[in-house]
Amino acid sequence: MSKRSILFSLLFSLSLSVAARQDEFTYIGFSGGANGDGSNISLNEVAEVDDSGILRLTNKTSRLIGHAFYPVALRFRNATSSAAFSFSTVFAFAIAPEYPKLGGHGLAFTIAPTKELPGALPSQYLGLVNASDVGNATNHVFAVEFDTVQDFEFGDINDNQVGVDIYGLVSNSNASAAYYGGDGAKKDLNLKDRFTIQAWIDYDGGEKVPNVTISPFSSKPSTPRLSFRVDLFPVLLDDMFVGFSASNGLLASSHNLLGWSFKMKCVSRFLDLSSLPSLPLPKKKNITLVIAASITAFVLLITAISAAAFIFKASTSSDVFAFGALVLEVVCGRRPIEPKASSEELVLLDRVRERWRAGRWADVVDPRLDGEYEREEAAVAIKLGLWCSHPSAAARPGMREVVRYLDGGDVAELPPFPRPPESNGGLDGFAPSYPSSAEVSTGSTYLGEEAVGSAHSSLSLQSHDPMPKQGLDLCGPP
Ligand SMILES: *[C@@H]1O[C@H](CO)[C@@H](O)[C@H](O)[C@H]1NC(C)=O
Ligand SMILES: *[C@@H]1O[C@H](CO)[C@@H](O)[C@H](O)[C@H]1NC(C)=O
Ligand SMILES: *[C@@H]1O[C@H](CO)[C@@H](O)[C@H](O)[C@H]1NC(C)=O
Ligand SMILES: *[C@@H]1O[C@H](CO)[C@@H](O)[C@H](O)[C@H]1NC(C)=O
Ligand SMILES: *[C@@H]1O[C@H](CO)[C@@H](O)[C@H](O)[C@H]1NC(C)=O
Ligand SMILES: *[C@@H]1O[C@H](CO)[C@@H](O)[C@H](O)[C@H]1NC(C)=O
Ligand SMILES: *[C@@H]1O[C@H](CO)[C@@H](O)[C@H](O)[C@H]1NC(C)=O
Repeated sequence: MSKRSILFSLLFSLSLSVAARQDEFTYIGFSGGANGDGSNISLNEVAEVDDSGILRLTNKTSRLIGHAFYPVALRFRNATSSAAFSFSTVFAFAIAPEYPKLGGHGLAFTIAPTKELPGALPSQYLGLVNASDVGNATNHVFAVEFDTVQDFEFGDINDNQVGVDIYGLVSNSNASAAYYGGDGAKKDLNLKDRFTIQAWIDYDGGEKVPNVTISPFSSKPSTPRLSFRVDLFPVLLDDMFVGFSASNGLLASSHNLLGWSFKMKCVSRFLDLSSLPSLPLPKKKNITLVIAASITAFVLLITAISAAAFIFKASTSSDVFAFGALVLEVVCGRRPIEPKASSEELVLLDRVRERWRAGRWADVVDPRLDGEYEREEAAVAIKLGLWCSHPSAAARPGMREVVRYLDGGDVAELPPFPRPPESNGGLDGFAPSYPSSAEVSTGSTYLGEEAVGSAHSSLSLQSHDPMPKQGLDLCGPP
């Protein structure tokens, strides 16, 4: 070969690899970069790649966000042709929840104008958008969510669903997580049981139909789980970043990606699950605590409690606080802070305390239960939730005590609650004892008038006010 043709073939292969970079890539684990060009994945917020090549978008800590994007923007459409290009992607993920059946919030395959998604929120927003731009077409966010918490605000059908989300979190198309076996039978899949799940997303730019398919196996089921018509041309910009976002709320999971392949304009490479890293097997937990529960919400609550009882072995007062908030969240069917609730309902804890003091705790029980619940159980749960989220860390019970009360299940057996500490340090004395500062402080920033109210009620806890209604009287409804 002449010098010239060597140079030419070098240039040619260089330009090929540049072209390839724009069009397709495959990660088999994430430590070695993408096949072909070695581009590392771009990580943002808490995302990291561990020694075994697993890309951990979040660990099991509350209220985290993780982002991982292919480092360069890809051309998704040709502005003059008015059509978004076809694309095809396949990836393998595994979600390990904090408690056996409770984790959150989920992960999403994402096509977005930036790799950082600045200003995005955790919890129900999945690290994709925030309360002010959710649903606004100017954000140009396209996502396929694997959602493990049922958010009523966004009309989620359950806590184990797949959805196509355009501009926000109200799915344009959704379905419970499942796949169709070779015999055509639908088989349910649990998104958060630590096992590897493979997902395929295929968009046909001509038909304008994105398909979403999932399976626990390497081979792709022939019937997609979601398939619906939507033109992505107006949704996307010409150049977009492609990757993943995940977030935790009060409920947390580690959200992991094990491999990923993407190809513009044709079918993505096959991913062989056996060639990918996988999550280590969990240590077996012995969950023996069984308490009779009469309704679904309380089954969930009891599950959470029994799980927590074993996990919180070396519990700190902040774990107990978060647990108390979780209990109240379940009983009341709400999140601790709801940006869209009316202002007097903004802070769940404050509201529950106030209702409890007024002897009207039944007001806060999840209205969707239609009064169909055991009053005693609900009262125990609310009382426990309030006790665990006591402003003073020292006054919170240990997890062992929690289990004991639940086992008895009788309100009358609960010992009197300790009074808040008689502090001379004012608010400073216990304000830092709120571990979930994110919850508490976010609450106050939203609050305006309500913040004044809750600061007032906190202050009154500190005072020596003899009027019982002013103190944190947790001793039970009159
Ligand atoms: C990818 O990351 C590895 C490890 O941090 C580094 O050695 C390598 O140079 C990076 N490659 C590129 C193309 O940035
Ligand atoms: C989880 O990630 C957060 C943020 O990176 C970190 O502060 C925390 O220590 C991690 N927790 C564990 C258990 O690794
Ligand atoms: C964009 O579409 C126009 C019209 O179909 C075509 O002429 C042009 O070559 C396309 N450009 C690219 C970069 O594909
Ligand atoms: C919400 O997100 C947008 C980006 O989509 C950002 O410009 C805006 O500042 C964010 N708002 C808040 C309150 O963080
Ligand atoms: C959508 O976002 C744009 C740009 O941030 C803003 O001008 C517009 O008011 C927003 N629309 C709504 C309905 O919030
Ligand atoms: C979910 O899908 C069902 C059935 O297709 C549909 O009726 C419902 O409106 C969808 N809900 C959301 C929030 O996407
Ligand atoms: C999407 O699914 C439908 C129904 O199975 C199928 O006809 C179509 O070819 C699929 N499209 C892509 C791009 O895979």
